[in-house]
Amino acid sequence: MYEICPELPEDTPEVEALYDLCFAPGRTALSSYRLRDGVPRVARLCLVLRDPSHVLMAAIRYWPARVAGRRILLLGPVAVHPTAQGEGLGGLLMRDSLARARTMGFARVLLVGDAPYYSRFGFQRLDGVEMPPPTNPDRVLGLELRPGAWVDVTGPVQREPEPPRPVPTAPDRTACIQVDPPKDPAS
Ligand SMILES: CC(C)(COP(=O)(O)OP(=O)(O)OC[C@H]1O[C@@H](n2cnc3c(N)ncnc32)[C@H](O)[C@@H]1OP(=O)(O)O)[C@@H](O)C(=O)NCCC(=O)NCCS
Repeated sequence: MYEICPELPEDTPEVEALYDLCFAPGRTALSSYRLRDGVPRVARLCLVLRDPSHVLMAAIRYWPARVAGRRILLLGPVAVHPTAQGEGLGGLLMRDSLARARTMGFARVLLVGDAPYYSRFGFQRLDGVEMPPPTNPDRVLGLELRPGAWVDVTGPVQREPEPPRPVPTAPDRTACIQVDPPKDPAS
């Protein structure tokens, strides 16, 4: 069985190493990171996926941000270890984290990525929503967790201006779930 858990402080060095492995050098110089600098992550949605040997295989993070003053979730980065890509682990983390986001009451999600991959989770190009340049507008994708949540929500994506609300319960291992491997890696 695999295990999906909230990212705890002790996971963070491994998560950073996984992102460094999966993305080009200088990933944090991307303009989208300026929306994240100094803004606390949405801790309960930042998840790690470990294999039965407890090896970190995938991770996903979310940040709060705003469009037209409305709260949005900024999804990413999501990464799967190169030895396990294509086995469905990315899909597992996407679906589990989005389900948690819906349960927590979030209405809308935005990411910058490849539409051919993210459309399977319901993401569509967001016309009229601008990520900091130089972002290709075709890669700015949105998902409604509540029907109509992106209607008339347009303009530049902006940093979350307010300090985070007090978190009633910090994420811990009680929020972990056990999952079967989605695809047989040998098949
Ligand atoms: C993108 C990524 C998270 C997907 O996770 P994954 O576990 O490899 O993907 P899954 O097993 O859930 O899905 C595999 C399917 O997605 C497709 N796919 C993967 N990346 C894709 C992309 N960039 N564009 C289009 N399709 C893609 C595969 O072709 C495969 O298609 P199939 O189901 O028809 O065979 C992972 O490949 C990864 O970490 N890549 C490097 C880092 C990255 O690019 N992260 C995303 C940007 S934030």
